[in-house]
Amino acid sequence: MKALITAGGRGTRLRPITHTSNKHLIPISNKPMIHYAIEAVVAAGVREIGVVVNPETIEELEKALGSGSDWGVHITYIIQEEPLGLAHVIKISQDFIKDEPFIFYLGDNVIVGGIDRFVQAFSENTSDCHLVISKVKDPHRFGVPELKNGRIIGVEEKPRSPKSPYAVTGIYLYNQHIFEAVHAIKPSARGELEISDAHQYLINQGFSLSYSEVTGWWKDTGQPGDLLEANRFVLDQIIERPHGPLVEGEVDSNSELCGKVIIEKGAKIIHSQIRGPAIIGEGTVIENSYVGPYTSIYHDCHIKNSELEYSIIMERCRIIDIDFRIEKSLLGREVTLSSGKSKPRTQKFILGDESRIEL
Ligand code: G1P
Repeated sequence: MKALITAGGRGTRLRPITHTSNKHLIPISNKPMIHYAIEAVVAAGVREIGVVVNPETIEELEKALGSGSDWGVHITYIIQEEPLGLAHVIKISQDFIKDEPFIFYLGDNVIVGGIDRFVQAFSENTSDCHLVISKVKDPHRFGVPELKNGRIIGVEEKPRSPKSPYAVTGIYLYNQHIFEAVHAIKPSARGELEISDAHQYLINQGFSLSYSEVTGWWKDTGQPGDLLEANRFVLDQIIERPHGPLVEGEVDSNSELCGKVIIEKGAKIIHSQIRGPAIIGEGTVIENSYVGPYTSIYHDCHIKNSELEYSIIMERCRIIDIDFRIEKSLLGREVTLSSGKSKPRTQKFILGDESRIEL
């Protein structure tokens, strides 16, 4: 079995971070988001992975993931020249997949608990397509299945009146019949080959669809709030530290670590309080500060005389002398937040396009 992982898209709702970086590399619990997808398919036994990227970010992705040898797999990069939809992604990947069954995994989906169960259900059901569905509050934002007597009898993309409270998540299993579907369907009103239309085609042509329901936690991380929530869940689930904090860096005697906390190699905690779940990245220095629950601070940051919680801070950020608590924040690489001591005490900003600040 092969896997196809999407890592393209423009990430418009995550600007300005996605002006300069691929959203699939945003760290969740100090690990680039796409690593979770790779780890999940590798754990399910896959050794050949196709990563679908757009031309603008292929270099960055290749640099971050390499040949796949870190995971003992082989990665083939497939370029999608234009964002023409998820069914189009499958269409252009046919030469890579050939006629093997495969996992199609949207790289911005984060699921806790792996996907082995779904792969097993797909093989046991011997269906042509296996969908993973999850109950959501806002099904109109997703592909929505119509269910009857334990079967999927229809799938609609972002319907105004959803026929069930479920979303079709971004984890799909197929055999070669999906290629017939992606070649047959026509672009939707937004000009994309919709994956839901490919599923509806399979249903109309009498192919068999099966499904599993996510019982744990799943998130499509389209917006900053989703990323913070994914970070919270992953910190909660992945850091299983029944015996207290894991310290690979240095913590001085005036500091206190509380709950599930990871201090990575070369990190220094000086006269500070870290209340978990939280992770402090390699080479980061936290000085005279408070870091509260659900915070991930990536590598080589400097936090001094400041307080923050429920946030994701990317590499090489500096947060110095901020006298209010920062929360629910997502900071891109090399962001500086500092307090000017000189008079007059004004607020000064140098912000990239589409930055957002709430004071
Ligand atoms: C895409 C699919 C949708 C699916 C969702 C899952 O939507 O088109 O059917 O439910 O992924 O993440 P998008 O995130 O591209 O709006």
